[in-house]
Amino acid sequence: MPEWPPAQLRQLRLKLLKWFRANQRHLPWRASRDPYAIWVSEVMLQQTQVTTVIPFFNKFMKRFPTVASLAAASEQEVLQYWEGLGYYRRARHLHRAAQFVMEHHQGSIPTDAELALELPGWGRYTVGAVLSQAYDVRLPIVDANVARILIRLFAWQEELSSKATQTWLWQQAEQLLPSKEVGDFNQAWMELGQTTCTTGEPSCLLCPLRDLCLAHRLGMASKLPVRKARQVTTAQREVALILCKGSMVLICQRKADANRWASMWEFPTIALREGDDAVASIQAMSRELIGYDIESASLKGVITYGITRYKVELNMVQAGVAGGKLHTRCYQQVKWVNRESLAEYPLSVPQRKVAKLVPGF
Ligand code: ADE
Repeated sequence: MPEWPPAQLRQLRLKLLKWFRANQRHLPWRASRDPYAIWVSEVMLQQTQVTTVIPFFNKFMKRFPTVASLAAASEQEVLQYWEGLGYYRRARHLHRAAQFVMEHHQGSIPTDAELALELPGWGRYTVGAVLSQAYDVRLPIVDANVARILIRLFAWQEELSSKATQTWLWQQAEQLLPSKEVGDFNQAWMELGQTTCTTGEPSCLLCPLRDLCLAHRLGMASKLPVRKARQVTTAQREVALILCKGSMVLICQRKADANRWASMWEFPTIALREGDDAVASIQAMSRELIGYDIESASLKGVITYGITRYKVELNMVQAGVAGGKLHTRCYQQVKWVNRESLAEYPLSVPQRKVAKLVPGF
């Protein structure tokens, strides 16, 4: 790999850090160097934009201000505080890792990269981000922002997700690191990527690294990075059942190893095949799903939502119990709850919309 000339390297570090000092946003997790707060922020910021994260972060830190308080909470409560942020596996890993830190590290997040890598849910990115920001450990990070900037700086033309590109990116990020202020330097990349070196058409006129950027010089910044063709979205259909009995409504907890929304709650929900009638299908499946036969089933509404590469049509059907006995093999548990207490159960965003249709909720 070609090395940068030392003078150019020094220039890049100075320019980027100077720009960050003058332009950084005041974000709540930048107010301290508490490794726990930085960790929570980094987990929330994976897959989620800064402006979305801020209110969730503040609420979460108020309820769980320390590793110990998070470790002592129930998984259900942690998921409840995560509700609306999506990618709930992050919350379950965070919770488990907090318990791991209490058990194996007396409540202190390790400063050693090898030890930090053993924490549930921690990969190379999280280790670099938390240890560099909290303790100034000299470790690189590569996220989508860093990748975009490096690729443009060098006009790197290989496809973004390829193994060769990923290896090259981590090597570059490591090579460029300064020996001090590593946390600020890593955050400076991310800040520059979010505000200036954005996807699509970047704001090169405002960029402190413009003179060092090969893609800018070649007039191809907006064409990079090279990405694989977008995956096509696949249509899916589902039906969710609203089953009421007096003031009670039936909800189920998904299995802990479910692919999506593990351990979260939902109204009994099944996948439909193309052309299946939603009402007839849930009627036919309800005994298998929850042990009851149902009656007077009617369609109350339809919503659509996107998840990963799927576009899902969710049909919402209300019905009454006709017979049978509560029982499930499809869920971790199923139970009748008072409709007022629905707010205490972590539901996904689409299932929360189903809850809005519960009569009297
Ligand atoms: N994305 C991930 N970590 C971040 C940070 N510390 N600041 C801004 N955006 C980020």
